[in-house]
Amino acid sequence: MLELRGLDKSFPGVHALSDVSLRFAAGEIHGLVGENGAGKSTLMRLVTGLMEPDRGEVWFAGRRVRFRNTRESMAEGIQLVQQEIQVIPESTVAENLMLDKLVTRGWGVLDWPAIHAQARKHLEVVGLSVPPETIAKALSAAQKRLLQIAKALAARTRLLLLDEPTSCLGPHETAGLHTLLRELKAQGIALIYVTHKLEEVFALCDRVSVLRDGHHVGTHPVAGLDHDRLVRLMVGREVRDDRVGLRPVSGAPEMLRVEGLTRRGRAHDISFTLRAGEILGCYGLVGSGRTETARLLIGDDRADAGRVWVRGKPVALRSVTERVRRWRLGYVSEDRKEEGLLLGFSVLANLTLTVWERLVNRWTRRIDPASERALGRHWVDALGIQCGSLENPVRNLSGGNQQKICLAKWLAADCAILIIDEPTVGVDLGAKEQIHRVIRDLAAREGKAILLISSDMPEMIQLAHRILVFRDRRIVGEVVGEGTSCRSAAEISEAIGHFLN
Ligand SMILES: Nc1ncnc2c1ncn2[C@@H]1O[C@H](COP(=O)(O)OP(=O)(O)OP(=O)(O)O)[C@@H](O)[C@H]1O
Ligand SMILES: [Mg+2]
Repeated sequence: MLELRGLDKSFPGVHALSDVSLRFAAGEIHGLVGENGAGKSTLMRLVTGLMEPDRGEVWFAGRRVRFRNTRESMAEGIQLVQQEIQVIPESTVAENLMLDKLVTRGWGVLDWPAIHAQARKHLEVVGLSVPPETIAKALSAAQKRLLQIAKALAARTRLLLLDEPTSCLGPHETAGLHTLLRELKAQGIALIYVTHKLEEVFALCDRVSVLRDGHHVGTHPVAGLDHDRLVRLMVGREVRDDRVGLRPVSGAPEMLRVEGLTRRGRAHDISFTLRAGEILGCYGLVGSGRTETARLLIGDDRADAGRVWVRGKPVALRSVTERVRRWRLGYVSEDRKEEGLLLGFSVLANLTLTVWERLVNRWTRRIDPASERALGRHWVDALGIQCGSLENPVRNLSGGNQQKICLAKWLAADCAILIIDEPTVGVDLGAKEQIHRVIRDLAAREGKAILLISSDMPEMIQLAHRILVFRDRRIVGEVVGEGTSCRSAAEISEAIGHFLN
């Protein structure tokens, strides 16, 4: 169905793809894996005409093609679900979905009932149950992602490229999507599936190709492969992640106390405490009320009832400035790429955004360039951010490296309490290990109090001292270590499962 011959693509200072030749068959789900910056998204962009290769050829259905934009590739039945969530925030769900296929009643009059009826049908396919009239920006990250997938599937498709489609989906939506993709495969559609979640490769894909630093290092049938071997092919080394272990953090001062925090329909009667140096996990499925709780805590949303204390003092959190300056409360959102980055600005500017006040020289009133650079370097090294130079605009970085910058920005901020929502979505295994190490150090060495929201069970088990289990917008249980002994991963996961069933 699709053949790439000797594709080559360079950007200033980066050889993103070197002489890549690959074949993708109809009726096959072909996994594409590699570390952040390996060239996966670039490959997708070359196939769909979002970019042109410097050298090499793209053959589709037996013909050489040279698409100049996605409209041309879409006309041939090639659909791309991009890594970045792409919805028009001010438009409705139906408008987003039907943008290029709006139904008119003649003389260009839009037939809204027909448009909404069709939109509903497409939404049903991906299991997104929101009214078509909903304004897109009101959707959660997972819902926006499903909308984007629905849009790709609404068109006639022969080749479907998915760039980390499940990065903000929960297990339920992911399972639904996989079922859908298997159906498409059975219909003879060719699918290319980029992911950092290797379990997805094993659950879904027939073959997998590995990119490393822009080179194609191999294509293997998934049946003959195991997890560790695939990791070695991708990373070129073993990856090892340590565990904090469930145990109480006692003696340290209480940083945050929440009692009966409630907002109707979003979070009910949420109560917990968080100490300095503690990593408190919030585990639950997407939509279980964890992010809603965070939004109430930081004042992005108003609570109907409940009380909050920071370091023993009652708080009424009103504005962003107040929460950062006065209460030193930081929040790394799950939507961070949309909210958190100045894409046209340099890596350095983005990294130091939250701390520039600290960097201002008292006498000259200017930011001291040497300390600014030192700080930037520190975070680039700590998280292994691949960015070329610190002056590179963030727009030029791969998706995963952009994620790391958003995270670093808040990790660098002068916060005593840090709420981190899904810290490792979309980053590769090596980076995940690095991010985990940084979070562990922030708690252990700097005594930060960390509220960690994650749907990734292994991550929760690795990082948390205690785990709150959320279901149906409430806390339904708490998993703690028994005595001083850390429980095994299997025991923890069983204890969590007990509350969820
Ligand atoms: N428009 C651009 N300008 C300059 N450099 C770019 C551009 N797009 C990509 N790059 C660089 O090309 C390399 C490959 O990026 P690409 O986005 O393809 O990686 P990826 O495999 O998709 O990574 P991730 O898993 O993080 O999404 C990276 O070093 C990136 O910084
Ligand atoms: Mg990418």
